Amino acid sequence: GAAAGAITQAKGLQNARCYSVNHLSVQERIEKKRKAALTGGGQLRIAAQHKRGKLTARERLELLLDPDSFVEYDMFVEHRCSDFGMEADHNKYPGDSVVTGQGRINGRLVYVFSQDFTVFGGSLSGAHAQKVCKVMDQAMMVGAPVIGLNDSGGARIQEGVESLAGYADIFLRNVMASGVVPQISLIMGPCAGGAVYSPALTDFTFMVKDTSYLFITGPDVVKSVTNEDVTQEELGGAKTHTTVSGVAHRAFENDVDALLNLRDFFNFLPLSNKDPAPVTECHDPRDRPVPGLDTIVPFESTKAYDMLDIVHGIVDEREFFEIMPNYAKNIVVGFARMNGRTVGIVGNQPKVGCTDVSAADIYRPIFRCLDVNSSVKGARFVRFCDAFNIPIITFVDVPGFLPGSTEASSDTEPNCAYDVMSSKHLRGDVNYAWPSAEVAVMGAKGAVQIIFRGKENQAEAEAEYVEKFANPFPAAVRGFVDDIIQPSTTRKRLCRDLEVLASKKQTNPWKKHANIPL
Ligand code: HXC
Repeated sequence: GAAAGAITQAKGLQNARCYSVNHLSVQERIEKKRKAALTGGGQLRIAAQHKRGKLTARERLELLLDPDSFVEYDMFVEHRCSDFGMEADHNKYPGDSVVTGQGRINGRLVYVFSQDFTVFGGSLSGAHAQKVCKVMDQAMMVGAPVIGLNDSGGARIQEGVESLAGYADIFLRNVMASGVVPQISLIMGPCAGGAVYSPALTDFTFMVKDTSYLFITGPDVVKSVTNEDVTQEELGGAKTHTTVSGVAHRAFENDVDALLNLRDFFNFLPLSNKDPAPVTECHDPRDRPVPGLDTIVPFESTKAYDMLDIVHGIVDEREFFEIMPNYAKNIVVGFARMNGRTVGIVGNQPKVGCTDVSAADIYRPIFRCLDVNSSVKGARFVRFCDAFNIPIITFVDVPGFLPGSTEASSDTEPNCAYDVMSSKHLRGDVNYAWPSAEVAVMGAKGAVQIIFRGKENQAEAEAEYVEKFANPFPAAVRGFVDDIIQPSTTRKRLCRDLEVLASKKQTNPWKKHANIPL
């Protein structure tokens, strides 16, 4: 019995030793892979990344997220391609070309992916796509935003269709997540091919000046197809996309500047369409008068002033995060806070175009009109705010839409501070007019030319029109504006209204979706 016991014990020890040998070797493998994952494509490529003025995928996450908050997923995932020598060990990088997981920004949950340009140029393999999809799926399940730090040469050329399928998987999730959780893209390197479409589907796309590009394909292919000589910067640089195409919403100086701004920006947003936006402590008195506003709007309605002066004066601490500041500048949109609560700001910008002294008086107001680009810019912003229950304050000073073959015409509401550019009839909750407001169908000159065409006494008619409409009363007597307020009291009034309206509930008729023109 004793002998048998001793043998059993010996066997047990032997097993334990075997186990511990295996165990150690597994441990070693884990450590080795972890270390490899942390160095991505290796020191040389990291040095090259730094030399270009770019941070690595992991350094970027460190700056974006609160210290020690990053929880990484899929560090051991490797690509599965065996063509073009890809099966060789030296072509396998644990984690492949993207770092994924979740973390916190000012304590609030966010899902992230950060493409690693040092591994096959951050190109998208099937495995890379799977990793991105995993964080997107989880973000949707728990209701948290997704931030993508993009730095990718597009589809992994060696993989072909598996990579293309991966893109489609991501695009589907972009579409499903739209309006459910905020999706933000920061473009931090040359993003080509498929790497362009997903960011373009997200709510906000930011870029880094001089080091980031978005193009379907690079200058070499453009040259071979259309014979056009174009630089990377012209084709898809930050300037092109923030001023001409409108694909990107803002550009920052460098990686650090972009990531720190992104942290600030994140603080405005709710985690999902079921969560309220965060309320921050407000040191700016909500009843603060803004005396400058009483004289800011020039007496002549065609004279220019800067709408940003009004916005800065009214919002908490003058803090305004402008979206698309360099695109369709005749409208101003962005985020601010009122008494600590996030608000979307939409404002006409009378400053733009009005300074052209060579223009005849009659044309000058036209420069301040809404046109297609400013309408799209405004509408997309309003749609985001609506999807995420962010109240909107609209400052209206516009002669109307720019008439022309491609544009429509509409009410004109010059010189007023109005809550919600959409009028009462479009579900504006509270509408105010400043004493200088004019609410009319069109300017006096245009109106008289139509209704008194060919008649005498045009000057008289014009004076009558101005007398009737060049003031806020026509709207106020009908209750289309709720009050005519002293401009300096605007902050106080709006802060109070927003507090009351915080519990607003409104429903729409059931439908699968709308079909108004995109
Ligand atoms: C595999 C890639 C890659 C890719 C870059 N690399 N792009 N590997 N697939 N798509 C690798 C390079 O071989 C190189 O490897 C490293 O990444 C860095 O690339 P460089 O060219 O040295 O860098 P740079 O000069 O900065 O140029 C970056 C670039 C360029 C502009 C992104 O690499 C480029 O043009 N890549 C291809 C872009 C493209 O056409 N992608 C496919 C689009 S089609 P080493 O080992 O030297 O470090 C597509 C279809 C999607 O995406 C359709 C979805 C519906």
